[in-house]
Amino acid sequence: MRTQVVIIGGGPSGLLLSQLLHLAGIESVVLERQSREHVLSRIRAGVLEQGMADLLRQAQAGDRMDREGFIHDGTQLELSGVGCRIDFRKLTGRAVIVYGQTELTRDLYDARDRLGGRVLHDVQDVTLHGLDGDAPYVSYRVGDTRQRLACDFVAGCDGFHGVSRQSIPHALRREYHRVYPFAWLGVLSQTPPVSAELIYVAHDRGFALCSMRNAKLSRYYVQCDPADAVEQWPDERFWEELKRRIPEAAADRIVTGPALEKSITQCRSFVAEPMQWGRLFLAGDAAHIVPPTGAKGLNLAASDIHYLATGLRQYYQDRDFSGLERYSERALARVWQAERFSWWMSTLLHRFPEHDAFDRRMQRAEQEQLIRSDTAQRLLAENYVGLRY
Ligand code: APR
Ligand code: PHB
Repeated sequence: MRTQVVIIGGGPSGLLLSQLLHLAGIESVVLERQSREHVLSRIRAGVLEQGMADLLRQAQAGDRMDREGFIHDGTQLELSGVGCRIDFRKLTGRAVIVYGQTELTRDLYDARDRLGGRVLHDVQDVTLHGLDGDAPYVSYRVGDTRQRLACDFVAGCDGFHGVSRQSIPHALRREYHRVYPFAWLGVLSQTPPVSAELIYVAHDRGFALCSMRNAKLSRYYVQCDPADAVEQWPDERFWEELKRRIPEAAADRIVTGPALEKSITQCRSFVAEPMQWGRLFLAGDAAHIVPPTGAKGLNLAASDIHYLATGLRQYYQDRDFSGLERYSERALARVWQAERFSWWMSTLLHRFPEHDAFDRRMQRAEQEQLIRSDTAQRLLAENYVGLRY
């Protein structure tokens, strides 16, 4: 069998790329290890930059986001007991859309179905071949049947634990990694959001975040020990800890309820360079990971896909390789800015167990500068709403 682009991974990155290529008349096949149900069972972040929202509309998958997503003109910070609102609209003229990644992924699957896109599930033993030549191919297994798919290019959209990044010779890869001394315990509850905007909290007991999915579905997080297990956090303990960290007025009005989903996310920063090798191009979590503090994971995947889809369109329409040749350089320039911002927001808002008295004073000074400086708030706002592609 043959196609033009083989896409490894049927998460947001792979599905978005497949849809954009289809609309440009470029054939692709998505190879996904899990079932569709499994992919759609994942609960992930829910803040979309303007660029992501525009790409979804371009992919003919933005209608429900436009109907059901919440436009947020700002966010609340509670910095060691002092409230501070970051007004995105005033500081940047732009906003973000709060819309769950699960719903976005569902919309992309529906869009692929409408166009008859080829997304193969339960695909095992994906192996990439001939990447450094002009006739790459991918082998894989479905059940007991082994298949081979020839192509022009391979897009590695298979996440942090995927096979694509490992297919670049180790000697050619440079990897940058920071594991943080904390994790995020997240709870999804069928309760009305405690606030119309997100509340990011820096507290002596640790970070907390009040977010949402819709008017009846809330998403809350508390910083926890990376070694914690979900079993150590029964609902009652979670709600009690969250109330101790969030502003008193919010704690007084919050509606609690049973956790529909409860999970612990480790926090790390990771970048693999380069994001391409021969006919292989990495995008999304396959190439980089950010701590969830700045809500950049999905939005970085979007800008990667924008650059990669642009390069592939240039190749197939004009046999012009220049976009593909510059893909890694262009994507990494934006990746590192998002990595910096996510690292900075994480250091601003979390309690670091190993911090000494001086470290804590530096963190407090950073918070105080943000509270009093329009310039500091503008810098946060520009990064949060998303740097231009
Ligand atoms: N073969 C086929 N599919 C694979 C393989 C493999 N060897 N390894 C992983 N996959 C699939 C996973 O099952 C997953 O569905 O690749 C997909 C990768 O999806 P994500 O991990 O969601 O990564 P991405 O599409 O880049 O989306 C990034 O997802 O993890 C969040 O925070 C992240 O919001 C960001 C977004
Ligand atoms: C979420 O709603 O899950 C969310 C929002 C903002 C973040 C992280 C997660 O920074």
